[in-house]
Amino acid sequence: MSTPHVLILGGHGKVALKLTPLLLQKSWRVTSVIRDKDQESDITATANSHAENLKVLVESIEGVRSTNDATRVLDQVKPDYVVWSAGAAGKGGPVRTFAIDRDACRYYIDAAASPTSTVKKFLLVSYITSRRSYPPWWTSEDKASADNVNQNILANYYKAKVAADEYLTARSKAARDGGKAFADICLRPGFLTDDDGGEGVLLGKTGSRGEVSRADVARVAAALLDTEYRGWLDLLKGKEDIQEAVNRCVAEKVDCIEGEDLEAIYNTKLELD
Ligand SMILES: NC(=O)c1ccc[n+]([C@@H]2O[C@H](COP(=O)([O-])OP(=O)(O)OC[C@H]3O[C@@H](n4cnc5c(N)ncnc54)[C@H](OP(=O)(O)O)[C@@H]3O)[C@@H](O)[C@H]2O)c1
Repeated sequence: MSTPHVLILGGHGKVALKLTPLLLQKSWRVTSVIRDKDQESDITATANSHAENLKVLVESIEGVRSTNDATRVLDQVKPDYVVWSAGAAGKGGPVRTFAIDRDACRYYIDAAASPTSTVKKFLLVSYITSRRSYPPWWTSEDKASADNVNQNILANYYKAKVAADEYLTARSKAARDGGKAFADICLRPGFLTDDDGGEGVLLGKTGSRGEVSRADVARVAAALLDTEYRGWLDLLKGKEDIQEAVNRCVAEKVDCIEGEDLEAIYNTKLELD
């Protein structure tokens, strides 16, 4: 494949604004989807190299109400990879959380995984406790903390993200079973911070508690897109060099989906309402 073309959904988000220049530095092409034309200058300001490879598309994600709506955008842009870093961020109540974090995300996944789409990889920025079961490596403190976040603090976000993550896994498997080369990457950071990061990460089977900088999430996402990785990866601040951590997870096929009911996930209903 020639230079990859990445469509970033949620292009004006804090992670996306850090990811965009990293992809341009690789000489990749980026189309950044934003909802407000006034945000365009914030996107173009990130392009410290290869600015000619950056495009901005104004499209509301909330307006995506079907797979056809998402297909229209993908057909227009024809990306090789899609990064989902959009989110309602708790604004607009449960209706908006489900409309963006679950429904629009699943429509984009469905469109991307279709045999006729150009997309070969879908990287979804999720969060570390977006899962139904306790993985075997969690401590009792990890379990209690995850329960508190998922049941008391972010109950609707939790339901929306689990639905999107499981749909990504199931829909991608169906696409591969149907003969399409399609990698699903579910990147699952802990609490996000705005510092520069750069001191290393804990990537793979981590605890459920802790934080990581948005800058490091962007670095890990950029590195993962350059590999053959597929699966779920949890991410916290740590001490391992990012490229080494990514190489290790690829080589060892680390997949944090371990502990979930895989059969139930693969039986997720793929037809969307
Ligand atoms: N906060 C945490 O601690 C945490 C932890 C783990 C994972 N995460 C996940 O990580 C993701 C990325 O984090 P972040 O800090 O970069 O989030 P963010 O800054 O809130 O970015 C989300 C982006 O989605 C965009 N968006 C929302 N509704 C849209 C619409 N209708 N049309 C187009 N774009 C829309 C927002 O646009 P505007 O800029 O116009 O608002 C924003 O740019 C989040 O979405 C979240 O799911 C968060």
